[in-house]
Amino acid sequence: MINYQLESKVAMVTGGASGIGLACAELLAFSGADIAIWDLHDDALEAAKQRIQKHGVKCITQKVDVSDQQSVIKAMADTIKQLGHLDIAVNNAGIGGPFEKSGDYKAEDWLNVININFNGVFYCQQEAIKAMRTNGSGSIINMASILGQVAFEGAPAYVSAKHGVVGMTKAAAIEHAADGIRINSVGPGFIHTPLVDQVMDDATLNAIAQKHAMKRLGTPEEVAHLVAWLASDASSFVTASYYPVDGGYLAY
Ligand SMILES: NC(=O)c1ccc[n+]([C@@H]2O[C@H](COP(=O)([O-])OP(=O)(O)OC[C@H]3O[C@@H](n4cnc5c(N)ncnc54)[C@H](O)[C@@H]3O)[C@@H](O)[C@H]2O)c1
Repeated sequence: MINYQLESKVAMVTGGASGIGLACAELLAFSGADIAIWDLHDDALEAAKQRIQKHGVKCITQKVDVSDQQSVIKAMADTIKQLGHLDIAVNNAGIGGPFEKSGDYKAEDWLNVININFNGVFYCQQEAIKAMRTNGSGSIINMASILGQVAFEGAPAYVSAKHGVVGMTKAAAIEHAADGIRINSVGPGFIHTPLVDQVMDDATLNAIAQKHAMKRLGTPEEVAHLVAWLASDASSFVTASYYPVDGGYLAY
C-alpha cells in the first residue's frame, strides 16, 4: 500500500462496508485518517470496522440510507460529534438496478436507482460541504462510473444517475472552490465487487473484460488509490474534474 499522508484528517465513506468503498476506507485508514463508515447493514458495518481498526485509527460506523435526507443529516451530525470535523467525503454508495431497456424500465425501479445513486450523492455532498465550510478546507470525491460518460444497454437509470453525478460534481466544485473545498468525480471501469460479480456470469464478465484495453476488470484497490490521491494534499490544484480509472475502456 502507498501512504497518502492523511494523519489528523477525518474521512467518511458511504457504502464503505463493501467493494470499492471498503477498499477506499482501508487505504485512507492506512494513510492515517480516522474513518466514518456509512452503510445499510449492522453486520457488514461491524466487519468493516474490525478491518479498519487494524490500521490504528479511530473508526466509527453509521447505519444510514443515503437516499433518505434526514438519515444523512443525522449521520453527518453524529460523525462530526464523534470524530470532531470532516476533511474527506467519499460519496460512493450505489446500486446497479435491474437490467431493462428504457422502454420497459419500471418507474419504481427508476426512482430507486436515481434516489440512491444520484439524490443520495447530492444529500451527502451537501452535508459534507456544510461541514467543510466551517474548516475552510476539504476534498469530496463522488463515485461516478465510465457510465457517467457513455451508455450501456439495459442500465438507463444507472447511466442517467452517473452522468448526473459528473455534472453535479462540476457544479458544486465551481461554487465551493472559494470555500477551500475541492470536489471531483471518479469513473471506474468494471471492477470485481459484489455489485458486478454477483449479477454477471463468467461468460458475461469475460465479454466485458474485452471492452477494456487491458482485457480485464479492475480491483477495488486500484480505484482506492485514485480516491486517496484526490483526498490528499498531493492533488491540491485539482477540482471540478472527472477521473476515469478504467483500464482503457473509454478510449474505444
Ligand atoms: N463495481 C463496478 O464495476 C463499478 C464500476 C463503476 C462504478 N461503481 C460504483 O462504485 C460504487 C460502489 O460500488 P461497488 O461495486 O463497490 O458495490 P458494492 O455492492 O460492493 O458496495 C456498495 C455498498 O453500498 C451500500 N449501499 C447501497 N445502497 C445504499 C444506501 N441506500 N445507503 C447506504 N449504503 C448503501 C451497500 O450496502 C454496499 O455496502 C457504486 O456507486 C457503483 O455504482 C462500481
